[in-house]
This record gives sequence, structure tokens and C-alpha cells, in this order.
Amino acid sequence: MGDTLPAVEVTRRASFLSFQPPAISEAEIEAVAETLRSGWLTTGPRTAELEARMREYLDAKHVLAVSSCTAALHLSLVALGVGPGDEVITTPLTWPATANVIVHTGATPVFADIRDDTLNIDPACVAELVGRKTKAIVPVDLYGQPADLDELAALGVPIVEDAAHAAESRYRDRKIGSIADLTCFSLYATKNIAAGEGGLISTNRDDLAEALDDLRVMRRGHGSLYDIVVPGYKANLSDVLASIALVQLDKVGEHAEIRRRHAAIYEEGVAELDGVEPVARDPRDLHANHLFVVRVTFADRDEVQRALHEENIGTSIHFLPVHRLSAYRERLHPGQPPLPIAERAGAEVLSLPFSPAHSDDDVRDAVAALRRVHARLAA
Ligand SMILES: Cc1ncc(COP(=O)(O)O)c(C=O)c1O
Repeated sequence: MGDTLPAVEVTRRASFLSFQPPAISEAEIEAVAETLRSGWLTTGPRTAELEARMREYLDAKHVLAVSSCTAALHLSLVALGVGPGDEVITTPLTWPATANVIVHTGATPVFADIRDDTLNIDPACVAELVGRKTKAIVPVDLYGQPADLDELAALGVPIVEDAAHAAESRYRDRKIGSIADLTCFSLYATKNIAAGEGGLISTNRDDLAEALDDLRVMRRGHGSLYDIVVPGYKANLSDVLASIALVQLDKVGEHAEIRRRHAAIYEEGVAELDGVEPVARDPRDLHANHLFVVRVTFADRDEVQRALHEENIGTSIHFLPVHRLSAYRERLHPGQPPLPIAERAGAEVLSLPFSPAHSDDDVRDAVAALRRVHARLAA
């Protein structure tokens, strides 16, 4: 008794902690080598296997592998017949690809404001915007939290769900990928099933699956006697990438466990920090834990991000509101309402380091650094 604990020197982390490094092991490297040895570089048996495994995993009748989630979203809108003169409603708090693909079809994006808790598109705001020209709604399952799919479906407009963050998510008791007219997933380098690049579309509708098959491959038939029924987009997936995705799919449960543990460390670590609020989750759903995002209000978010960088902690921002970006500022729909909740969220959100490649101690380092920055910058 009476002994005092030695003062712990609290210093910054020695090496830089990357924000979201890929979790790739020898198994993926071996799978790629095997595919290369097989002679199948483009779409072939590994892609077919990935589609079959994903049909089962997503509980969907059809799964089509494509070159990216951007292509998946674009082809989905084209398959629904979206084109010039049409309007498509989406969220402003997303990666710009979600809105870009609407522009690519010739249609006009209309942004609906978001919920202040989950930051997902607000069905009440969508309802106010649905009109004669509305041909589709594109909700995003932000960070892995499913959007309000029942409320959106009740509006009676086809849904193309952007599930780039939601490979593992469940909405109530149903698997994401089995619910909307079309659901689009990403296999991009940072995603929960990461192949570097790639995308998947799931649907239970035979007509849409057939249309999408024509749109992605460019041609039907074999050998030199080909025909095309639509001028397609050449958006198929290569077997090299499919072979990586298959190994990642094998690991999805193991990685989910690590993600859950890291999210719990963050939840506990920031619980007592005023002005650091994790984005809300709906306990009725299964969250894919794609990102761990907090809203920072104790100081300017950008200043906090810079201070964390000086602490050797990499962070990111998901997302800057799309309607504020140069490509959109000047071309907003004339009836576009203001989007105050998205604008505030866009200035507050900060994504903390999050990857199954990180150790628990890496996550604790990020928490410790955030605490130091908080102590320094909180007013
Ligand atoms: C919400 C969202 N939608 C779409 C995409 C586009 O995915 P991809 O890079 O596979 O085209 C991303 C990519 O990061 C995303 O975060």
C-alpha cells in the first residue's frame, strides 16, 4: 500500500496505422496463382462458382457478377428502363458513384435528406419527392446499417439498393440481397468481401436477371456466330478477381467476428468522450460493421482528423454530401429541397481505422490517440 503507479508515458503510436488495409493472406495469393495456371483469365468457372455461392449466401434467386458496384448500379437502372426525362431519388450522404450512375442513364438525381440517427435516407423525405417522373429509388445501407426498406417499398417505386457496405447485413430477419428489386454489392479493395475491384447484383426477378446478363457481357452465343440483343457495356468480372472473392467469402464469418470486437472496443473507448458520438444502429437489424463512424462535435472535424494524422492514426470521411461537390452544385434539379441534416452530418462524420487486418491493440491505439486529441482540442 502507499505505492504509486509509475507514470505512464503517453506518446503517439510509433508507426502509421492505415485506415483500412486489406486483409489478404497466402490463401488469396494461392487462389490467384491457381486461376492463372488454369488459363481462365476472364469470366469463367470461378465467376460461376462465386455467383452460385453468393446466391446461397444472399438467399437470392439470381446473382450476376460485374466489374464494380458502380457498374452494378448503372446496369440495374438501365435494366429498369431508367433514361432521359426520368428522376431517381437517392441519398446525398454516399460515395458519388451512387448519384453518378443516375446521370449516366440520362436521368436526373433528386436528393432526399437523411435521418439524423442512422444517417440513412429518410423515407418521409423520399415520400415528398416521389412524383410522376420518379422511376427508381436508390437507398444506401450506410456503413452496413440497412436503410428503411419496408417504408421505402411502401412508396411503390422500384428500388435499386446500394449495398456496397452491406454484404453481411440483415434487415429484420431477412438477408440484404433478397429484399429489393435489385441489390448491388461491391468487391472493392476495402469492402467486407474484397477482391480489389468487382461487383455483384442480386435479384429475385427473372426478367431483370435476363436483361442484366445481356447488358453486362456484350454478346450472346458462342464462337463467331454471335448476336447482340442490346448494345451492352462489357462489365463482366474476371476469374482472377472472382478467385480472390471466393477466399474472402470463406473468411467472412471470421472477419465479421473481428469487426464486431473492434466496434465494441471503439464503443466502449469513446463512450465518455463528450462530442464523439458513434452513428446509431438499429438493434432489430444485423449491421455489417463495414465502417466505424463517429460524429465529432467537440472541435472542428477536419482539425481533429489532422491531429489524429499527427498521432499516426489514419482516418477517412464517409462522406462529403454529393450535392455539394463541383459536378453536382451547378446541375441540381430545380425542385431540389435543402438538405440540412446531410450537410451537418457531412461536416461531422469521421471514420476511424477499421479492418480485420488490424489487431485489437491497433484499435486501442486509435482510441488512446482520440482521447489525447480530445483532451487537447475540446473547448
Ligand atoms: C456507398 C457506395 N456505393 C457505391 C460504391 C462504388 O463501388 P465500386 O468501387 O465497387 O464501384 C462505393 C465504393 O466505395 C460505396 O461506398
